[in-house]
Amino acid sequence: MPPSLTAALQEWESLEKEYHQTQESHRLYLQKLDEVSKLQSNCSSSIARQRSRLKDMSQLMKKCNKERLTEEDVKTLDEIKEHIKARPNTFFEMEAFLPKKNGLYLNLVLGNVSVTLLSKQSKFAYKDEYEKFKLYLTVILILFAFMCYFFVSYRFVDAILNFLLVWYYCTLTVRESILISNGSRIKGWWVFHHYVSAFLSGVMLTWPDGYLYQNFRNQFLAFSLYQSMVHCMQYYYQSGCLYRLRTLGERHNMDLTVEGFQSWMWQGLTFLLPFLFFGHFWQLYNGLSLFRMARLPDCKEWQVSMCGISFLILFMGNFLTTVAVVRTKLKSKDQAKPKGQ
Ligand code: COA
Repeated sequence: MPPSLTAALQEWESLEKEYHQTQESHRLYLQKLDEVSKLQSNCSSSIARQRSRLKDMSQLMKKCNKERLTEEDVKTLDEIKEHIKARPNTFFEMEAFLPKKNGLYLNLVLGNVSVTLLSKQSKFAYKDEYEKFKLYLTVILILFAFMCYFFVSYRFVDAILNFLLVWYYCTLTVRESILISNGSRIKGWWVFHHYVSAFLSGVMLTWPDGYLYQNFRNQFLAFSLYQSMVHCMQYYYQSGCLYRLRTLGERHNMDLTVEGFQSWMWQGLTFLLPFLFFGHFWQLYNGLSLFRMARLPDCKEWQVSMCGISFLILFMGNFLTTVAVVRTKLKSKDQAKPKGQ
């Protein structure tokens, strides 16, 4: 047998061996996948069962209250009530690691495909990538708005900027719905905020060039520039929170403590808040300017009042939600403080 054939046969033998090993590990993988999907449906159905039994349990507890109870019984009931209160949060956290049906929006955009990420690392990585995506797009928007404000004054270039804004906000709504499916606590308002912003940018896109458009153009571009810069600061705050929380979750022997995280978060937040509130009042000012414009006798464009309404909705939602977020954080800070401080 020629030596080249012997070498080829030897190589083929080793290739075959490796092929069988690959087949075996793939078979094992499929078997495990099957086991995982069975476990997933078991967990989902037992969570659903627990939920309905907890509902029944709450009804039972209500009935107990009406009867005469000893002090000991009241204590036991209170303990059970505390447990019942905590359970929905635990189930929410459990469900973040189980596949579930998409909501209406994700179903319309993506179809019925599972978007649940099954490990903590992949959830963090997705969130991290989402924050980075926002940062890169924000930098592009800053450059674009800067160019439009100072150098280029063509309606079609403004239209490109507005189109970019529409695309950016639409993408955010999809990404945020995926994040929420994966257990993120993003408040519904921020998602709704992006729908309103997409609508606003869409209306700006259709606003025909003219005296009124030119009148509002610079104010809008300056606001866009400011908002994008605030978003950059927000990025550093939010990705800082993400990294610190991840470190807190990953390390058992922590040199980063919960208090360390809290004080860092408050420093970041107190720096950020004045800029955020200034941005909110700028939105109010934009809304009021547009309403004043809409009352002019030569104002025929419907876009003026539509943009005005959108800015007012954005102002109210942003302002109220930010105040609510800060209040909740202050409350939890006070609760976390040891008594007497
Ligand atoms: N957009 C998207 N996601 C947001 C968000 C926003 N504006 N604000 C908070 N979130 C997310 C957080 O990343 C977090 O997600 P996670 O559960 O996946 O970790 C979740 O919502 C809960 O966050 P929370 O603890 O309530 O707030 P925070 O400390 O992350 O941020 C603020 C607090 C006030 C800085 C933030 O809500 C904010 O920037 N609000 C103002 C936005 C604004 O007004 N923009 C217009 C500027 S002109």
